[in-house]
Amino acid sequence: MTESGYQDREQSELKHYAIRLYLEAATRILGSAWDLKYVDCCAGPWLSATGDYSDTSFGIAIEVLRDMRRELSTRNRAPRVECLLIEKEKEPFRKLEAFAKSKDSSEVGVRAENWDFTGHLDDIVRYCSTPRTFPFILIDPKGWKLAGISQISPLLKLKPGEVVVNLMSSFITRFVNNEASDFSDLLGEDFPELRSLSGTELEFAVVRKYCELIKREGNYAYVCALPVMKPDSDAFNFYLIYATRHPKGVEVFKSAEKRTENQTHVVRADVQKRQRQERSGNFELFSEDVLYRERKYQQLALENRERAKRGVIQLLRERGQVPYDECWAEALQFSAVYQTDLRTWTDEWEREGTISIIGRKFPSELLRRGHGQVLEFRGMSTV
Ligand SMILES: C[S@@+](CC[C@H](N)C(=O)[O-])C[C@H]1O[C@@H](n2cnc3c(N)ncnc32)[C@H](O)[C@@H]1O
Repeated sequence: MTESGYQDREQSELKHYAIRLYLEAATRILGSAWDLKYVDCCAGPWLSATGDYSDTSFGIAIEVLRDMRRELSTRNRAPRVECLLIEKEKEPFRKLEAFAKSKDSSEVGVRAENWDFTGHLDDIVRYCSTPRTFPFILIDPKGWKLAGISQISPLLKLKPGEVVVNLMSSFITRFVNNEASDFSDLLGEDFPELRSLSGTELEFAVVRKYCELIKREGNYAYVCALPVMKPDSDAFNFYLIYATRHPKGVEVFKSAEKRTENQTHVVRADVQKRQRQERSGNFELFSEDVLYRERKYQQLALENRERAKRGVIQLLRERGQVPYDECWAEALQFSAVYQTDLRTWTDEWEREGTISIIGRKFPSELLRRGHGQVLEFRGMSTV
């Protein structure tokens, strides 16, 4: 990992991996219909180790946007693409500004501002509100306070628009029990109720609550949470919270989540091997994955599959008939749960007579979003 500049901050490597995948897919889809604006509200550079900032969120975004525009222009579609990079601190801003000037072009307009973004929400909203423009907003502060709903509300309300927020779940779960800390802006006025929880239950509830508040504030249809692990311990560091009003966005983001999950294990196995070698002083003959240890992700996936399964069955119990698309949306909002999981359960339920499927065009037709299939609840389930 040393060559890529991410040693000892592999969580940033994974964050950037996910952001790149999401932006690559989303900007290609949306760029064919809209002009695009990208706003990095907490740009940095922060702990960048490469001279060209290819290991920063803004460096990655600009590269992705430029490539996407070049590709679309070969198909006679050249959207206007502009980026606004915001940094509060003087010293990193100086570097950011120099970078912005060097990248500003007729293909991708790049502008940097030395702002505390919370004091310039109106300016950001105005910047994003040009006609036929789809804005992407990244909010990646160092701690948790700037992720508070009141701090970012006007950005959440941008329509059209999509938002990704870094939720520092590891800090929050550590401090939520501290009587002096106030998490109401992040987790709602009733946040002290979370203090009765601990471990993975607490972490799940924190992420879920934040997603609900984001959804409500921005009137989003879907909010997903992509977990990012710590490189050197079996724990999650933060979640990338993604809010969209379109199911296609969920598909794109879940695909980024799945690939980031796989990459997490590659990166962490490499870190673990390096640490073992440093401790023992011996070179290992095994490949990284042989001795790789991880429990947390598996536990999250297991627990969330159960939660999602219960959620879908409850929908079916309450309503009798539910469009597949709604079951899909219910299930996929859980981290580490994918369409393949939902299809496994629906197959099982159909076999055991818990549900029947209405609207299949032929008996073996796969359940798919947008195909008009409806799940009908027929009886008690073992779930
Ligand atoms: C976690 S770093 C950003 C890392 C960057 N997004 C990346 O992935 O490469 C957070 C940055 O936001 C800046 N920052 C903190 N509060 C800010 C604010 N209110 N407005 C703008 N920038 C802020 C910090 O100075 C720091 O450079």
